[in-house]
Amino acid sequence: MPSEVDLQRPNVARMHDYYLGGAHNFAADRELADGVLRIFPRTAELARTNRFFLRDAVRRMHAAGVRQFLDLGAGIPTAGAPHVIAQSLDPACRVLAVDREAVVVSHTRALLADNPLADVVQADLRDVDLVLGSGPGRRLIDREKPVGILVGGVLHFLSDGEEPEKAIFDYHREVASGSQLALSHVVSSQEGDGGCPPGVRERVDDLYARSSGKLEWRTVPEVARLFGPFALVDPGLAPLGCWRTGEYAADSASPPLPAVAGLARKR
Ligand SMILES: C[S@@+](CC[C@H](N)C(=O)[O-])C[C@H]1O[C@@H](n2cnc3c(N)ncnc32)[C@H](O)[C@@H]1O
Repeated sequence: MPSEVDLQRPNVARMHDYYLGGAHNFAADRELADGVLRIFPRTAELARTNRFFLRDAVRRMHAAGVRQFLDLGAGIPTAGAPHVIAQSLDPACRVLAVDREAVVVSHTRALLADNPLADVVQADLRDVDLVLGSGPGRRLIDREKPVGILVGGVLHFLSDGEEPEKAIFDYHREVASGSQLALSHVVSSQEGDGGCPPGVRERVDDLYARSSGKLEWRTVPEVARLFGPFALVDPGLAPLGCWRTGEYAADSASPPLPAVAGLARKR
């Protein structure tokens, strides 16, 4: 365990691991996550559905010929992590996970020790030069070929002042055409559109304020702007549950989750 890992302060990566049924979380994480679940019991369903979206996105990217992936804000590699999906489709797929949290990096590094085609870098995803210029970045990501960029459930931890949109522009500039972006984000409500209503949001925010990450709720048009110069592809920016297809399809009677996701392409 790296010395900078604080076990007393709830950590969003470990809370996310708890929502997904993982084992890499501590009492402080579970206590806060249970508080969030009491206010919004569908939080765990949201985390799982987000993983379905990432799984679907990796499959679509793979079908389009993408064989290298950049998983930004990757989180703790609980079951169904993108590198597992990509390498199950083609063992030659290369995956670079990026996360700013030491706890994520230490777990991921241990898990990937025997996986020469996947690695992890500890970085703020906005530091594009550090991510792509790192040893693993240069070894795993061929800038001449399309990259599948995954930004699942991450940009809502960045305020507008932290310029998440600029980071997306920077990656767009650095990657080859044909690269794809998969992005998911929580949304606030606008009159019964499935977004999170203010009363619930404020109580969830109060809890997250005690953790390593403050939530930034955005409207659907604000999330659409985060795609920057990447062009959305079918079905566009859609409610998260729409990405659960086939055997994983969501119950059509269940109300939408307060999150949206989309897949986009660099022409
Ligand atoms: C909710 S988890 C999402 C994990 C995974 N992407 C998924 O969709 O299942 C968010 C992760 O983003 C990481 N994160 C938040 N802000 C970040 C930033 N600016 N740079 C890198 N990682 C970040 C957190 O440490 C956490 O592991």
